[in-house]
Amino acid sequence: MHYETPQFFHVMQYAAAADGDVIDMVSGNPDWEPPEAIRTGLTQYAERDAADFQYPPSDGLAALREEIAARRNVAVDRVIITNGTGEANYLAMARAFDDSRGDEVVLIDPVYPYYLGKTELLGGTPRLVATDDDGRLAAEKTCEAIGEDTALVVLNTPNNPTGAVYDLESIRTVVECAAAHDALVVVDEVYDHFDFSGRFESALTLDAGNVIVTSGVSKSMAITGFRVGYAVFPPALIEAAKTRHMLVNVATSRPAQRAVLTAYRETDPGYYAAARDRLESRIDSFTAALDEAGAAYTTPDGAFYVLARFDDFPGTMANVKTLIDEIGVAGMPGATFGTARTDWIRFALVTPRVDEAAERLAAYFADR
Ligand SMILES: Cc1ncc(COP(=O)(O)O)c(C=O)c1O
Repeated sequence: MHYETPQFFHVMQYAAAADGDVIDMVSGNPDWEPPEAIRTGLTQYAERDAADFQYPPSDGLAALREEIAARRNVAVDRVIITNGTGEANYLAMARAFDDSRGDEVVLIDPVYPYYLGKTELLGGTPRLVATDDDGRLAAEKTCEAIGEDTALVVLNTPNNPTGAVYDLESIRTVVECAAAHDALVVVDEVYDHFDFSGRFESALTLDAGNVIVTSGVSKSMAITGFRVGYAVFPPALIEAAKTRHMLVNVATSRPAQRAVLTAYRETDPGYYAAARDRLESRIDSFTAALDEAGAAYTTPDGAFYVLARFDDFPGTMANVKTLIDEIGVAGMPGATFGTARTDWIRFALVTPRVDEAAERLAAYFADR
């Protein structure tokens, strides 16, 4: 099998090697502080007994699983703690291949590239279904793509890269179509704390036997380096996923889980609201600059990315490199995200230099 290194690394390396000062709008690393309780939780951990430096339960610290189960309103035995949402997605996607007769994975285009990579890794065949122009889930079209060969559908809301927040009815339609063909639906909700529309509703509220919800705290607590995420499986599907997690990882880091538990308990909602406010003001200034540059874009309802299309400047890898070289702004080429937005460039707004990047882009495209 041939594994492709995600394009993201390629752009990051190019930007790092560039001569000038480059504003990184490639990666999804929050640039703000984690909750204070993350630091205190970690510090306290250092003083614990040696026994606390040993293997945690493979499926996660019981108290953390209970905390998440209570927050997500599900039974605790449905929750498994993973190495980030990334591993949760892998376990959930792999689970679909255990029982399925088919090997097709229905993905929504534009698509978060790791779903494509994981599909390949699992020996599946991706089948891309385009969203509408605003990035909304095209439920009927998605249903048409689901058939006998479908093992799995993967959804992501709030969405990377479009910023769309899917309405629950569209998700329900897709889930029902998938159920009719014995296919699973994975709903990645890692951006659940970044909903600016107030419309986000978790797919867990559907309480469906074929839905696995994944999420994590990389983004919400600004700790992408901790690698703590989770998956909520339907009761009938979780045991095999726990075994896969145990065989591949043994467990998830114990100090990281403990610090996250402390942060869940001690962080008030104001922390998350401040992160949302910060992002909303960045979205305002960035999209104002895109207006000045005459670019097309959709204002995101959630997550922290903006997809933009500039006249006569398609979002190819070559043009992304041109922006790095000429104005020191690094984004991601649209082709990274499937086939639907190859002319577009994705900008991640997780840098304090969004205004500066916006000014550089506006000036560059005004002069062209
Ligand atoms: C849609 C989506 N899912 C999952 C992840 C990975 O999250 P984690 O750091 O929790 O593994 C990302 C990271 O950018 C993402 O955008």
